Amino acid sequence: MIPVSSVVRFQNRGGAQRDTEVNSYPESLGRDCVTFPAVSQNKRIAIIPGDGIGKEVIPEAVKVLTALGAPVETSQFDWGADRYLADGVTVPPDGFTMLGRDFDAILVGAFGDPRVRSNIHAKEILLGMRFRMDLYANLRPVRLLDAALCPLKGIEPKDIDFVVLRENTEGVYTDAGGVFKQGTPDEIAIQEDINTRKGVERIIRYAFEYCERHQKQDGSLRQRVLLCDKSNAMTHAGGLWQRVFKEVSAEYPQIKAEHMYVDALCMQMVRDPRQFDVIVTNNMFGDIVTDLAAGLQGGLGMAASGNIHPGQTSMFEPVHGSAPPIAGKNIANPFGAILTAAMMLAHLGLAEEAARIEAAVLEAIRQKKTTQDIGGNLGTSEAGEWVARRVAGVGHKQ
Ligand code: NAD
Ligand code: IPM
Ligand code: MN
Repeated sequence: MIPVSSVVRFQNRGGAQRDTEVNSYPESLGRDCVTFPAVSQNKRIAIIPGDGIGKEVIPEAVKVLTALGAPVETSQFDWGADRYLADGVTVPPDGFTMLGRDFDAILVGAFGDPRVRSNIHAKEILLGMRFRMDLYANLRPVRLLDAALCPLKGIEPKDIDFVVLRENTEGVYTDAGGVFKQGTPDEIAIQEDINTRKGVERIIRYAFEYCERHQKQDGSLRQRVLLCDKSNAMTHAGGLWQRVFKEVSAEYPQIKAEHMYVDALCMQMVRDPRQFDVIVTNNMFGDIVTDLAAGLQGGLGMAASGNIHPGQTSMFEPVHGSAPPIAGKNIANPFGAILTAAMMLAHLGLAEEAARIEAAVLEAIRQKKTTQDIGGNLGTSEAGEWVARRVAGVGHKQ
């Protein structure tokens, strides 16, 4: 768990360091929670490490932010399985309102603990943030940092640089449905797939806007948006996505509009990931294809994501989960969380700082200063420390 101190040191944009007093939130909002007077120009970040390896990788991301001297103030929240098991609270009253009101962004680890078999805390905290804060665009970049990380032969970093935009507030995740005649041979389970015109249109529009406004790493323009669905079988929902995609794409004639069924897309992603640019899809397909895409990047330990509502407090988390079997062993890869922190900084307008983190992670990979899952022999905290020292400019010859 990240230690909570009563005085936190942070850096101003000008570089001057000072200590600041911390205020405590009421007990109900989290026993590990501290915050700051509202006078600072720094970006206010809520940190929620969560469960399992979330509690190991997020401290490394915070370590890197601190070493960078990024103009941010962090406040810790202990929401997760331990807290739930201790006092039954998943999200304290007004927790989401507080996050939206008092913070510029939220950095999250992962939720999921074998002791909470219902997974109720993950549902209420993680899906709660996505749904209740209306974070409708789940942006999951897929970038290969080094050829050695990709399981495909002959694939270079320039070949994998696409993004998945996953609808994040609807679909089968809305929990609409129910079970009828449970425990009998006639049992019926219904899980509804909710697709609203508004929800579908805004994520498709976000994808086209993203394509128009963002370049690839090599500086070339993004040019294509691909709709991924299963409209051949799921005709009602798929029909809506198809119609809206056609309408919205007509407003962006300079962008090529493409389509693939999700099953074919999975095959193509493994066969030739070079063909992808911007992919837009629904909640569940987006979840599945981004684990597959993480495999192309070196595994789940490398993949970053943002849960975004433009203009509102957004939430950033690595794509991976709490990985219970490897939790507490100092072996989890912290780079997904560190790259997620970089993504958060870029979203907050701190592109230069974000680039410094990415460059340090890239160098760590080149020098094999990594955890075992991607070929190094460092522990979680040692790999995080290496990146932190690199961004701080300490020991360039390390
Ligand atoms: P997982 O992502 O936790 O793990 C899948 C595999 O990837 C495991 O082999 C794991 O060891 C490996 N892995 C994941 N992250 C890694 C890292 N940083 N470094 C090295 N290896 C890593 O997925 P799962 O096993 O399906 O789920 C475990 C729990 O996490 C479940 O409770 C699930 O619901 C939850 N989960 C939460 C989130 C989230 O909070 N965002 C995301 C996915 C899964
Ligand atoms: C993810 C996770 C979550 C999801 C789970 C934990 C509900 O797999 O963020 O990718 O399916 O969205
Ligand atoms: Mn997932």
